[in-house]
Amino acid sequence: MKPAGAWPEAGPDALAHSARLVRLIAERIGAAAGWLSFADYMDLALYAPGLGYYAAGARKFGAAGDFVTAPELSPLFAACLAVQAAEVLAETGGEVLELGAGSGRLAVDLMRELARLGRPPERYAILEPSPDLRQRQQARFAAEAPEWLDRVCWLDRLPERITGLVLGNEVLDALPVHLVHWQGGQLFERGVVLAGAGAAFAWQDRPLAGSTLAEAARNLPVAAADYLSEVGLAAPALVGSLAERLVHGMLLFIDYGFPRAEYYHRDRATGTLMCHYRHRAFDDPFYLPGLVDITAHVDFTAIADAALEAGLEVPGYTSQAHFLINCGLLERLHALEPGSLGYIKHTAQVQKLIQPSEMGELFKVIAMSKGDLPAPVGFLHGDKRHTL
Ligand SMILES: C[S@@+](CC[C@H](N)C(=O)[O-])C[C@H]1O[C@@H](n2cnc3c(N)ncnc32)[C@H](O)[C@@H]1O
Repeated sequence: MKPAGAWPEAGPDALAHSARLVRLIAERIGAAAGWLSFADYMDLALYAPGLGYYAAGARKFGAAGDFVTAPELSPLFAACLAVQAAEVLAETGGEVLELGAGSGRLAVDLMRELARLGRPPERYAILEPSPDLRQRQQARFAAEAPEWLDRVCWLDRLPERITGLVLGNEVLDALPVHLVHWQGGQLFERGVVLAGAGAAFAWQDRPLAGSTLAEAARNLPVAAADYLSEVGLAAPALVGSLAERLVHGMLLFIDYGFPRAEYYHRDRATGTLMCHYRHRAFDDPFYLPGLVDITAHVDFTAIADAALEAGLEVPGYTSQAHFLINCGLLERLHALEPGSLGYIKHTAQVQKLIQPSEMGELFKVIAMSKGDLPAPVGFLHGDKRHTL
């Protein structure tokens, strides 16, 4: 269903593209005896080869796309991350591995800033499942930082052993989630079915029992009689795989989300699923699949638990605002000439990064580490509130 209000129309090519993806998903629903889990639907809508939102060619990031991420918003974001990255690399040597590098903005800026700090990594590896985004990242390095191309590489799978820093900005929220309905003391999984001949999609709940998902859902602190939310299995699984491979170093993830008690609070009774299209946010994931981003907030307790289970420590969890300020964001801003155009532009961007009503509070940063490392600079001061 088209969300209400003024709405930018998709062109005929884009609509034809979405229609092809709808047909593919409809076939998969048929092949799955008429019912597809929402996690499988989301996986196809975002990553179906050649058709999914991230797998196909449309512009996603920045003013001309669907949403703006922190590295696209301001180069000071990468400058601050570089301070934390340099601290880890000084202790471990080794590499930076960035997951889901999007347009490549963070990779280019971070590599340059690490070089400026005298800590360029031996290798900057990128794991990017989208062939289209991988091409964009390669083109960006070739155009903007060709001097670093010999240290950058693109991986098809996780390395067996990792020493250094693993980084992911807004990656965990892009991983498929299941939808679970707690109703009258029973558990149901919400899936996708075909609603009639036009291949329109509809929701259908079915009882949930005897699976990893059922066990995960049963352990959540849901106290309401009728409650719908997401359960993400893919994000903790990814963190668990990274943790098993980490020899010495840190996993650092930045994303929007909450600790578990807040995530599954009784007032959040319809979950956090959200779609983005041309800077509009809405909650119908059946609208124009393939053209629309689908995302869910991150349960940071699940992320920390996955790391702890694999033997890592969790030395840091805080808001994006605290992290960036601890990494010197305001000093970087004040180093600019007050009143200059650059100062005014950067001040507006910094406000978006740290104001509680913008990205400062909803976005969190979590550090998970293995082996000797100093207490991470990004989490040292000022935060007495955020706990997992
Ligand atoms: C919302 S975008 C964020 C892009 C970029 N990090 C930024 O902040 O602008 C999500 C990214 O995660 C990638 N991604 C999805 N699943 C992934 C996985 N399993 N491993 C690594 N990257 C993944 C997507 O292809 C996409 O590049």
